[in-house]
Amino acid sequence: MEIGPLAPHNGDALLRFLAAVPASDRTFFKEDVADSDAVERWAAGPGRRGLACDAGEVLGFVAVVPLPGWSDHVGEIRLVVHPDHRRAGVGRALARWALVQALDAGLQKLVVEVVAEQEGAVAMFTALGFDAEGLLRDHVRDRDGELRDLILLAHPVADQWSTMATAGLDEALQQE
Ligand SMILES: CC(C)(COP(=O)(O)OP(=O)(O)OC[C@H]1O[C@@H](n2cnc3c(N)ncnc32)[C@H](O)[C@@H]1OP(=O)(O)O)[C@@H](O)C(=O)NCCC(=O)NCCS
Repeated sequence: MEIGPLAPHNGDALLRFLAAVPASDRTFFKEDVADSDAVERWAAGPGRRGLACDAGEVLGFVAVVPLPGWSDHVGEIRLVVHPDHRRAGVGRALARWALVQALDAGLQKLVVEVVAEQEGAVAMFTALGFDAEGLLRDHVRDRDGELRDLILLAHPVADQWSTMATAGLDEALQQE
């Protein structure tokens, strides 16, 4: 598996990946992924977007998108792994890549929104040095219209280099 920035040649593979992502998970992109212009739009948009690929197929997508205005020192992570390739370390590798990108981009803080029931995602980000900073009750509606709590996890990128090194990010940096 290789992780790198989204590039124009990823177009077809990215569309196959997007088609394979269940509708319920598409909300995590927080961007319109319905058409073939997604690659160009994403490549031109703010922030950094990366793909995990194996033999030309996309296994996962991550974005680090700066918040607007007075929070532009904060980046938001959006992370989705192909449903057939979960629990194989792809999400953790992409989250590490995102942390390295945030550091390189000079961001001071990273946040990610996770639905409270997704204990696996919470565990993954917590292991990488994220902490819960907020709980938004009944903040999102699932496909059945049920209200769900949203947890806001945050990582003080700039302050916690030692934590990142502990999480293996020093190795990720060396591979960059
Ligand atoms: C959350 C998500 C990105 C995890 O990706 P993944 O590739 O399956 O995660 P990894 O295999 O790297 O797992 C890393 C760790 O996270 C935890 N974890 C991840 N998924 C889990 C699950 N379903 N149940 C329990 N623990 C889980 C485990 O601790 C795991 O380590 P382990 O396998 O050594 O036990 C993936 O499930 C996904 O795309 N979900 C939908 C979108 C989403 O929720 N995005 C997060 C917010 S933007």
